[in-house]
Amino acid sequence: MNLVLLGPPGAGKGTQAKVLSQKLNIPHIATGDMLRQAVGKGTSLGKKAKGYMLKGELVPDELVIAIVRETLAKAVVEKGFILDGFPRTLKQAEMLDEALENIGKKPDVVLYFKTSIEKSVARLGGRRVCRKCGANFHVKNIPPKKDSICDYCKGELYQRKDDGEETVKRRWSVYAEETAPVISYYEKKGTLREVSGDLDVGELNKILIALFQREKLI
Ligand code: AP5
Repeated sequence: MNLVLLGPPGAGKGTQAKVLSQKLNIPHIATGDMLRQAVGKGTSLGKKAKGYMLKGELVPDELVIAIVRETLAKAVVEKGFILDGFPRTLKQAEMLDEALENIGKKPDVVLYFKTSIEKSVARLGGRRVCRKCGANFHVKNIPPKKDSICDYCKGELYQRKDDGEETVKRRWSVYAEETAPVISYYEKKGTLREVSGDLDVGELNKILIALFQREKLI
């Protein structure tokens, strides 16, 4: 199954993508994670992307498109994929269609996670991420068993620099300007399915699995 997850910052895309990836055994491809890794390693891509990410702006299309193209060309996507945080502009959406067509694929379903800015600010302010394995926690909603320590690999938990209230608000403006048109793009193609990002993680997961079954994707 080829899935695309769209939605504003903090709608729960990454959290749900990780659960689905394990359950369905298909890779989770998150452009935000890939870019943060590049920044952490100080690669040439990371050096170019860092400033945009800190300000909550989008990294230029050509940089992101290059890493997604490279990933989609790998055999790992043969059984399907979950794209999280890509496409985020119309240009990226068109590139994705073209790259998938070249390998005989198309997005089966595009999930649009809807939420409010208030919920997003509260979620992202409390988000903690594991430096080692990338697992996501929330100080109140999904707390780790031990403060600042990852439940899964005992790695250190940290707060993302772009999760402060002002940057989250900037990310929402960028989302409204650049990414909202992508929602209409998939709506017109008939592949868009809107879900509530406000639901509890387990409850939303059940709804998604039922949706995939109804559409005979699993
Ligand atoms: P990226 O990392 O993709 O950030 P984002 O899309 O803004 O999404 P988030 O990771 O903030 O939110 P999410 O919806 O995944 O929520 P999560 O599940 O973590 O991008 C970061 C930056 O990279 C961008 O600003 C841009 O600069 C650059 N970039 C990335 N892709 C790009 C592209 N294609 N083009 C150009 N630039 C790009 O959940 C959030 C919190 O809530 C967590 O603490 C979690 O534990 C909690 N939570 C999740 N679900 C629930 C729930 N159901 N109930 C209660 N709590 C929940």
